[in-house]
Amino acid sequence: MTEKHIKLGLFGFGCVGQGLYDVLNHSEGLKADIEKICVKDKNKKRKIASKYFTYDKEDILGNNKLDVIVELIDNSADAYEIVSRALSKGVNVVTANKKMLAENFESLYQLQEKNNVALIYEGSAGGSIPIVRNLEEYYDNELLSSIRGLLNGSCNYILTRMELENMDYGKALKMAQESGFAESDPWLDVAGYDTLYKLILLTVHAFGIILKPEQVLALGIQNITFDDITYAKEKGLRIKLIATAHKVGDKFRVYAMPHFVNKESDLYNVLYENNGVEVEGAYSCKQTFVGKGAGSHPTGSAVLSDISALTYQYKYGYKKLKKMEAYHKGKVDSAKFLDNDFEIKVYIRFSHKDDLKGIEVVSIEEEFKSAKTNYIVANVKFKSLFFLKGNRDSKLFVCAV
Ligand code: HSE
Repeated sequence: MTEKHIKLGLFGFGCVGQGLYDVLNHSEGLKADIEKICVKDKNKKRKIASKYFTYDKEDILGNNKLDVIVELIDNSADAYEIVSRALSKGVNVVTANKKMLAENFESLYQLQEKNNVALIYEGSAGGSIPIVRNLEEYYDNELLSSIRGLLNGSCNYILTRMELENMDYGKALKMAQESGFAESDPWLDVAGYDTLYKLILLTVHAFGIILKPEQVLALGIQNITFDDITYAKEKGLRIKLIATAHKVGDKFRVYAMPHFVNKESDLYNVLYENNGVEVEGAYSCKQTFVGKGAGSHPTGSAVLSDISALTYQYKYGYKKLKKMEAYHKGKVDSAKFLDNDFEIKVYIRFSHKDDLKGIEVVSIEEEFKSAKTNYIVANVKFKSLFFLKGNRDSKLFVCAV
């Protein structure tokens, strides 16, 4: 097969954009040139010559000589406009924008189908772990029962620093930001949204269902304190922000929230900004993928791999999605396959009993009260936790047991 020499138009030159630039420059095999980079800030000092930059998106979107558009900007709405325009023109796109993808998945899928064009996004979930393509290709005929993992490098970094180094939450978050792991708005990381977006993408490729962010529960680590870390340590456990999608009967339970994990779990020793994903199938049994989940070069390398894949005309087949459509004879209403109606055992730390209002407690297994902290371990109705999603007023810390 002759390798095609490709011309790239790049949107964004932040952490991942610069990572891609470095990785591309050191790549020996891939024949790809960045023709133009569209950025917003005219006054920012940049490490490469100004001739590469433009401030007008039409310089890229209107350039018919480009083979691939690489979208690595921050703003989800702007990114959607760029990506959908490129796909409508029949130009292949690589993106790492999990928020944009999760918020617009159905329409981006339709655009790819209609225009017979590729949109690929390995860098959007799991950093350097090749999880999307593995779910799509390797497990294409496997009856997967569960995917479960740590998908946010920043949260794992904060939790690790707090637990192993007694570092204060604020300082650990600041270090995650300085290291280029966190989103520009770190609330997306700590409140569980970034994990949620990535989980939605993996659920498409693992199970063939397209969920919307508002349908899926996400709770974060924003209220964690050393009381919670100590509670876990005393029991030989670690706290991890885990995304899970698993099959129960013919439905799926899909959510992201802190979990206690024990030493037997493959995820226990996944530390700092590393991510880990366990994939479980009927025949393959359980396999765990671990690697750098955030950062300029690991994510840049995933983007590079996508660009390289386009040189051999790769595109996602959406095999599981198509199987679902074939089986149900048309577009699938994924909400019908989502099960939010079950009980879950959780640890909840709180200040006042009133803070628990809204949570439907079925039974309490453990209760602790002191002048400093209170907690319960209880079975609760999963659905009743939704009011905590993105709730900036609540100070509860909730962790699955
Ligand atoms: N903010 C993300 C994280 C970046 O911390 O995992 C990588 O997607």
